[in-house]
Amino acid sequence: MKIVSAHYVKSIAKVEQIPSKGLPEIAFAGRSNVGKSSLINCMLNRKKLALTSSSPGKTRYINFFEINETFYFVDLPGYGYAKVSQAERNSWKRLIESYLTNSVNLRCVIQIIDSRIGPTDLDLTMIEWLTYIERPLLIVATKIDKLPQNKAGKLLKQYSQKINLPIIPFSAIKKTGRKELWQMIQKVSSN
Ligand code: GTP
Ligand code: MG
Repeated sequence: MKIVSAHYVKSIAKVEQIPSKGLPEIAFAGRSNVGKSSLINCMLNRKKLALTSSSPGKTRYINFFEINETFYFVDLPGYGYAKVSQAERNSWKRLIESYLTNSVNLRCVIQIIDSRIGPTDLDLTMIEWLTYIERPLLIVATKIDKLPQNKAGKLLKQYSQKINLPIIPFSAIKKTGRKELWQMIQKVSSN
């Protein structure tokens, strides 16, 4: 995929604020700090388009990025961050669920897990729920650069068996899996 243009459009706190152009949307979901924003930047060959941080909870709203004037990348707030209040966690949860349920132009959800941790209970709940609401889903295990190479294959196979879905290994630092993920995104988005 050649990235001709990629720019930030807006942050939304309500589904009614989804950009009105009606372009297809590809959303990125996962636990807080798992590496969603870094993965988006890597996919787009941009360093700081989506804000990243070593402290969790950086992405608080749903951020829209317009790519090649033909579709949106949607950066979702991370779930499961323990250090924010229950009220705030509930409000993120409502926002994410309402977006994923109601978006008309959402073509695919990229569900990101940490390759060192595997799918957590919250990840499993999310995957089950996305399957239940029949959203096309791709699973990516990121931060693969942090795993010794001889362990990575075996671990990912275990995770994959646990969720009964294929997993794309990814590293935002080494750009591992970038090409493969683009191919998969293009495939599901063209359906
Ligand atoms: P929230 O917006 O808080 O939900 O976080 P996020 O999921 O967007 O994570 P973010 O991209 O901000 O990354 C969190 C931390 O993980 C940062 O310190 C990144 O540098 C680091 N990180 C992200 N991807 C990778 C990766 O592939 N490899 C390594 N080694 N570190 C990564
Ligand atoms: Mg983020």
